[in-house]
Amino acid sequence: MARLLRVKEYLMDITNPQVQEYIRNLLPVRQGILAEMERDARERKIPIVSPETAMFLYILMKTQRAGEVLEIGTAIGYSTYWLARGVEDTGGRVTAIEISPGNIAEARENWQRLGMKERVELIEGDAVEVLPTLDREFDCIFLDANKSRYPELFSHCYRLLKPGGLWITDNVLFQGQVVGKDGDEPGIKTRPLVAKLKEFINMLTGHPGLETVIVPVGDGMALSYKRGEGNE
Ligand SMILES: C[S@@+](CC[C@H](N)C(=O)[O-])C[C@H]1O[C@@H](n2cnc3c(N)ncnc32)[C@H](O)[C@@H]1O
Repeated sequence: MARLLRVKEYLMDITNPQVQEYIRNLLPVRQGILAEMERDARERKIPIVSPETAMFLYILMKTQRAGEVLEIGTAIGYSTYWLARGVEDTGGRVTAIEISPGNIAEARENWQRLGMKERVELIEGDAVEVLPTLDREFDCIFLDANKSRYPELFSHCYRLLKPGGLWITDNVLFQGQVVGKDGDEPGIKTRPLVAKLKEFINMLTGHPGLETVIVPVGDGMALSYKRGEGNE
């Protein structure tokens, strides 16, 4: 019990909850199917992006004038919808990868209802196996799958991102757990998942071909820009 309390103290809000509520209340009100998806995800504890993260993704896609987008980890298709909306102007498309058959069925149904089915290609399977088979580059990559696999996915994502492209990774702050160091709290050891996330953050920030910043939106988002071919 004492250990559990100490672990809980170790978690922190990335943003002040009042500030977050203020920001969220400024967003356009989501109605109909989108509101239903948010409610459903909350009730069934499906970890979809927060509404402000969704809007952030949408604006990034629009300003980046993205055409080809790769999403790794789709769940019920909520973030996919915002990415797909963000590439409507360019006639772009989202290639989404998802491993869970239940989520795949729901995502397909949601895109159909949202009128986004034609803009999304869903690849069913484990990203670790799917990514090596892809042979085209993407303007943007959104990585939001199993956090402990991020280091394994690193080289594939790097290869698949166009020079000048944007790679967005969600949950990199993981409720602040990446901030602590082993031994900061007596008796608390870094969880394996958090250790993997830290390893991944070091890969992103240490890579000479990438420029990375972490922004405290949602659960922490890494934005990585790929240098090269005149895009330094
Ligand atoms: C955090 S949820 C994605 C949420 C979604 N991006 C959203 O915001 O609406 C992570 C999803 O990644 C999927 N996933 C986890 N590991 C995966 C892997 N190795 N390959 C493909 N999908 C994976 C899970 O089944 C889950 O649906």
